[in-house]
Amino acid sequence: MRKRYVFQFIILVIFMLAYAYSSYSEDKVTSAEPSGKNMAKEGYVGAETCKGCHAENYDNYKKSVHGKAHVKGPESQDACETCHGPGAKHVEKGGARGVDIFNFDKKTDPKEKSEKCLACHQENKAQVFWSMSKHSAATSGVSCDSCHKIMSSKDDKFLKEKQPDLCFECHKDIRAQANKQSHHPIKEGKVMCNDCHDPHGEFNAKMLKGDTVNELCYKCHAEKRGPFMWEHPPVAENCLTCHTPHGSNHSRLLTMRPPYLCKDCHQGTGHGNTPYGNTASFSRTTTGNFSTTIKTDLRSCVNCHVNIHGSNGPGIYGQRFVR
Ligand code: HEC
Ligand code: HEC
Ligand code: HEC
Ligand code: HEC
Ligand code: HEC
Ligand code: HEC
Ligand code: HEC
Ligand code: HEC
Ligand code: HEC
Ligand code: HEC
Repeated sequence: MRKRYVFQFIILVIFMLAYAYSSYSEDKVTSAEPSGKNMAKEGYVGAETCKGCHAENYDNYKKSVHGKAHVKGPESQDACETCHGPGAKHVEKGGARGVDIFNFDKKTDPKEKSEKCLACHQENKAQVFWSMSKHSAATSGVSCDSCHKIMSSKDDKFLKEKQPDLCFECHKDIRAQANKQSHHPIKEGKVMCNDCHDPHGEFNAKMLKGDTVNELCYKCHAEKRGPFMWEHPPVAENCLTCHTPHGSNHSRLLTMRPPYLCKDCHQGTGHGNTPYGNTASFSRTTTGNFSTTIKTDLRSCVNCHVNIHGSNGPGIYGQRFVR
């Protein structure tokens, strides 16, 4: 754990130095100031020329965040060609699909497409871990425009679709999980995929936000953090020991249902390991047996061990998470 933090810190420092250097050594590429120095660069024709044949795209673009911010790329003074590259040849030939213009279609290499965006967005802290993300892997086929629709999206942040549908389109297995009986309210719109993941990548595995899984969970389930006088070690260690994040057929997002969940770790001679006793009593007996039903009904062990995440209750009952 600690080694990882050190590594994380070093990476952060490297990024900060790189950032400091890049803003020192050149003008910010996202500058809205027309400097004029690239105006006459060969092969570029300017947005007004594109407008002649692509009026609708032109209008949509001008209304968008990009259009309003008058974004200019490192190569071009002008909007359209910042992303589509120099358009002179395209225009000369009267313009057509596949004719001398960069397009963000399925055939184009995802990496090349993303690079067009990263020319300006690399400095954005949201994209710092892009190159480490599964989405940027060559095999994934994903690029910025898989999720962002630049020319015509009416959505915030240029999103193609709202979450979770945006993500479900490719992550059908997660959709199936989110439909299970017990689930995080993702399809209900109360929890977003990007509350827990950064689709642009994170330092952590599975592109998870938060320094650790538990830190992520505490953001919304703060009461599970404690501090507790009596801690249940697996809880402090990793919530995913007992829970699954998207959905489960067992109640409360559990990976298994008690008593089986508990018996994974609590074996031996205690009553935890002997759920099928026939003493019809609520209190514990010297033989460690309880009534069959209370130990095997839906909540099983947690009928009694109600404070399973930790307890501040007094005495032995607190210590055993019973109150
Ligand atoms: C003389 C008219 C004309 C001009 C000027 C023009 N285009 Fe086009 N462009 C076309 C036509 C026609 C198509 C094909 C559209 C279609 O089939 O729907 C096209 C297609 C495109 C495509 C899609 C390419 C593909 O492979 O699918 C892009 C991107 C594009 N133009 C961008 C631009 C940009 C940027 C400019 C300005 C630099 C520009 N066009 C100027 C006529 C023009
Ligand atoms: C910030 C980058 C960016 C800028 C600037 C930009 N585009 Fe695009 N353009 C895209 C992306 C990404 C697509 C793919 C579809 C989408 O995301 O909406 C696209 C698609 C297109 C298409 C093809 C649509 C099709 O049917 O395949 C045309 C035509 C086009 N843009 C024209 C323009 C014109 C004209 C301008 C300037 C007014 C412009 N673009 C500015 C990124 C950009
Ligand atoms: C020439 C520079 C430039 C390029 C290239 C560029 N952007 Fe942007 N982008 C900006 C600026 C500037 C803003 C608005 C200012 C800001 O960051 O708040 C912005 C904003 C955005 C936003 C946030 C919109 C919002 O509602 O807050 C998204 C998403 C985005 N860009 C995606 C893309 C994608 C995807 C591409 C590639 C297809 C791309 N950008 C290419 C400069 C650029
Ligand atoms: C897998 C889907 C996905 C991909 C791929 C993706 N994005 Fe995003 N992006 C999102 C979502 C979802 C949001 C909205 C986050 C939010 O609402 O805070 C977003 C937000 C943004 C924003 C706004 C950031 C902010 O802090 O408000 C920018 C800029 C952006 N994306 C740029 C990019 C660029 C550049 C790429 C490619 C390198 C890219 N995105 C690839 C899903 C994606
Ligand atoms: C409450 C937080 C949370 C939400 C909301 C959430 N996830 Fe996850 N997701 C996780 C955690 C935690 C993991 C890591 C699971 C593990 O390591 O076993 C994960 C893992 C994944 C994985 C990797 C699965 C694998 O088997 O390797 C994908 C893909 C994924 N999530 C996609 C999504 C999508 C898409 C959404 C929205 C529909 C979403 N997640 C919503 C917490 C969340
Ligand atoms: C265009 C398809 C596409 C879209 C849209 C998409 N993803 Fe993915 N996602 C992928 C692919 C492909 C992978 C890599 C799968 C692999 O390597 O097994 C992936 C991997 C992941 C992983 C696993 C990362 C890991 O380390 O294992 C997470 C988490 C994830 N995506 C979350 C999201 C979220 C959140 C969204 C919506 C904002 C989203 N994805 C939208 C295609 C997509
Ligand atoms: C962005 C906020 C958020 C994050 C982060 C989050 N949760 Fe949740 N969680 C919720 C919401 C909202 C509910 C539904 C609460 C309700 O319905 O009363 C919920 C419900 C649950 C439930 C009960 C499900 C049921 O069927 O009753 C469990 C268990 C749970 N979360 C575990 C986790 C774990 C484990 C993590 C970390 C991987 C986590 N949560 C991260 C917001 C979050
Ligand atoms: C040792 C197994 C175990 C671990 C580890 C664990 N839980 Fe639970 N959790 C349970 C059980 C069992 C239930 C069901 C309790 C019930 O039915 O009353 C539950 C229920 C929940 C619930 C819904 C009911 C409630 O108490 O609010 C949430 C939210 C929750 N857990 C969050 C977390 C978080 C966050 C973590 C990590 C900090 C975590 N759990 C770690 C076993 C565990
Ligand atoms: C991943 C392993 C693991 C799982 C699963 C687990 N526990 Fe534990 N539990 C522990 C450990 C380790 C301790 C601490 C044992 C110690 O201090 O001797 C503990 C302590 C306890 C204690 C206090 C016992 C004592 O000696 O102080 C109770 C009661 C308990 N667990 C009940 C449960 C119940 C009920 C479940 C199922 C909902 C469960 N545990 C699931 C590992 C687990
Ligand atoms: C009917 C209520 C009840 C049920 C059901 C119950 N327990 Fe307990 N358990 C207690 C009480 C009360 C104590 C503390 C008193 C004591 O230790 O004598 C305790 C103590 C424990 C202890 C610590 C002492 C020991 O025996 O090791 C563990 C571990 C434990 N329970 C696990 C479990 C597991 C696992 C289950 C489910 C298979 C379970 N319990 C079901 C009431 C219950």
